[in-house]
Amino acid sequence: MKILLIEGPLLDKIGEREPEIYGGKGTREKLISAFNEKAALLGVETESVSEYCEGALAKIIVNAKCDGIVINPGAYTHTSVLLRDALLCSKIPFIEAHISNVFEREEFRRKSYLSDVAVKVVYGLGTATYSTALESLVTFLKAN
Ligand code: DQA
Repeated sequence: MKILLIEGPLLDKIGEREPEIYGGKGTREKLISAFNEKAALLGVETESVSEYCEGALAKIIVNAKCDGIVINPGAYTHTSVLLRDALLCSKIPFIEAHISNVFEREEFRRKSYLSDVAVKVVYGLGTATYSTALESLVTFLKAN
């Protein structure tokens, strides 16, 4: 089984950007190592991509060769019909993942263009976000 982790804009800045929301120094390393450790434990192959451009993200999604996607689209979550269309076009099951609790922040972050077509949405789990999303996706894929 192969899972692709896709991160949208500014997620490479976790640990530096708004540390009171996303966590401070070392958070990104913990987030990624928790994901990698979970993948090893589950025995799944993973690949990770980080991309700022919306069109490039859509291209990555439609060309992806994998069984499932964990995606943190960052700000595009709340704006992008394109990413929704790309995920539907790919027909690859995906989990939408957010490090912060988007429901306890600004009103505009409660709207997602992806949630209703996602297998699940994982949010607010900090450094455990991607590993939890991965586990949940693998459970789904094994059952379906
Ligand atoms: C985020 C939440 C988004 O609202 C925000 O634009 C991000 C990060 C999260 O992981 O909590 O860039 O997706």
